[in-house]
Formats: sequence, structure tokens, C-alpha cells
Amino acid sequence: MYRKNFLDIYIKNNFDFDMAKSEIDFAIDILFNYSYKDFILGKTLTNWQIDKLNNIFEQRCKTNKPIQQIIGMAYFYGYKFFVNEYTLIPRPETELLVNEVLKLSDNFVNAKILDIGTGTGCIPITLALKNKNIISDAVDISLEALETSKKNALFHNIHNRIHFFKSDLFNNVKDKYNIIVSNPPYIPLKDKESLQIEVKNFEPPLALFTKDDMGIEFYEKIITCAYKYLSDNGFLAFEIGINQSKSIINILKDNKYNDIQIFKDDNNIDRVIIAKN
Ligand SMILES: C[S@@+](CC[C@H](N)C(=O)[O-])C[C@H]1O[C@@H](n2cnc3c(N)ncnc32)[C@H](O)[C@@H]1O
Repeated sequence: MYRKNFLDIYIKNNFDFDMAKSEIDFAIDILFNYSYKDFILGKTLTNWQIDKLNNIFEQRCKTNKPIQQIIGMAYFYGYKFFVNEYTLIPRPETELLVNEVLKLSDNFVNAKILDIGTGTGCIPITLALKNKNIISDAVDISLEALETSKKNALFHNIHNRIHFFKSDLFNNVKDKYNIIVSNPPYIPLKDKESLQIEVKNFEPPLALFTKDDMGIEFYEKIITCAYKYLSDNGFLAFEIGINQSKSIINILKDNKYNDIQIFKDDNNIDRVIIAKN
């Protein structure tokens, strides 16, 4: 019943029906901890909850701002993360990267990991929550993103196991790591206009775009410097964009990395690449 009234807001603004349903369920769940099933079982929303949701959905439809930014929170790997205009909204594809890094971390007693371009901190925070032996450093060039990632680490009570600091890629990095992980910007700036309005108008350009035509400049920079920061038998692990795997494999081979593995996402797109030092 509630869903129907909220859906009307989306429909009168010509939004996709399935997307509207999932956004409404997401908002009610993340704000009030109610699932759709709870309503079928008789739970109800109070008037102020209904007013709050109406305001959120009206704003969503009027502005195209992503619902996660309006609410200020997103889910990643089933955990809640604060998000804002300075942080990329964590994507489900990145959960695949986290899964593969978790498997790699089993090769080490206390895996020491560096996350480059940490944004919300979703990667090192999830790794720390899933494996209590992992400790991480996490860097970003954006001070605002780092403020958010620190807030997320505090929220999940693992702030003592992750050191967040500002760095332009490796500039302020001093240590060596068993695994270097990164989901760097990988969309060529020239493709900006083809992006969804929610992404191109609201997500931070610093998190999205590269200056080169193929979106691989960050991989190239990280791969060519990483050997100085990797322990023996250390690993590099990246999330990658569509049609980038071949070029990145070539850069890895040129830089003498071994055991290169590719993992596909649910849409059969090469999404994660791993290589050994
Ligand atoms: C695609 S987002 C990934 C955010 C987060 N790791 C995730 O997976 O959701 C890329 C991140 O890299 C950061 N970044 C961009 N250029 C950077 C640089 N030169 N050095 C460090 N971080 C950078 C951005 O601020 C952004 O937070």
C-alpha cells in the first residue's frame, strides 16, 4: 500500500518502474530497517516516516540526484556506508574485487593491504570486517573522501586497523604491502556525455574520469610503480572497466607480473584483474 503511493511519485515523473520499486525498498530498509515482507506481515509506517520518504522521493525525481546521496547512505557487501557528493557510491561490481582480495589474503598470516583511491573506504573496511587478521593503509587524493572513509571506519568500529591518509597514488606511501588493491577512476573524460545523468551530474569527477582515451592511465601509473611497494610474492588487484582487460594485461606483462587472472562480473564482463609480483 505504501509502496504504491511512493511509486506514483516516480511514475508521474516517468521513472523506470523496476528501478523505482528497488529504490523505495532500499530507502525504507536503510532508514527504518523494514523489508517489503514486514509490511505484508502488518508493519506500518508512522506519519513522520511517510513524510520523510515522500520528501526523499520527490527530491529524487525532481533533481535526478542518486537516492543514496539524498539519504547519505549506501549498502556495500551488506554493510552500511556513509556517502556524499565527494565519494563514489560503492557498486556491487566492487564486491567481486573484495571477494578475490579476501581469498588472496589467506596466503598471508596477517595480510597487509594498501587501497589506492579509497573513497568511502568500502574496500578496506569490508576486508577488515571479514578477516580480522587484515590491516590496511588506505589513500585518496580527496581530503573530503578521506573524512568520509574515516567516519565509516569509526561507524564500523575498525578504525584502529586502517590508516587513512592523503596521497596522490604512491606519493606519500612508504611501506611495503602483501596486496595492493585499487578501483581507480576508469572512465575516459570523452565518454562523460554517455553516462547516466545521476552519475555525470552528481558523482565526483575525481572518482570517475581519466584524461586518456582508454581509461587506463591510473592502472599504468600504479602498475609501473607498484613493485617498490609490494612484498615478495605480493599481489596487485584491480577493478577494471569494459574493454580494458587486454590493455591492462599487456601493461602487467611488460612490467614482469605473473599469474595474471581475470574474473568476470554477473554480466560476463571482465571486471577484476589480479597479478603476482
Ligand atoms: C572509482 S573511485 C573508487 C572509490 C572506492 N574505492 C570504491 O571502490 O567505491 C576512485 C577514487 O580514487 C580517488 N582518486 C582519484 N585520483 C587519485 C589519485 N591521483 N590518488 C589517489 N586517489 C585518487 C578518487 O578521489 C576516488 O575516491
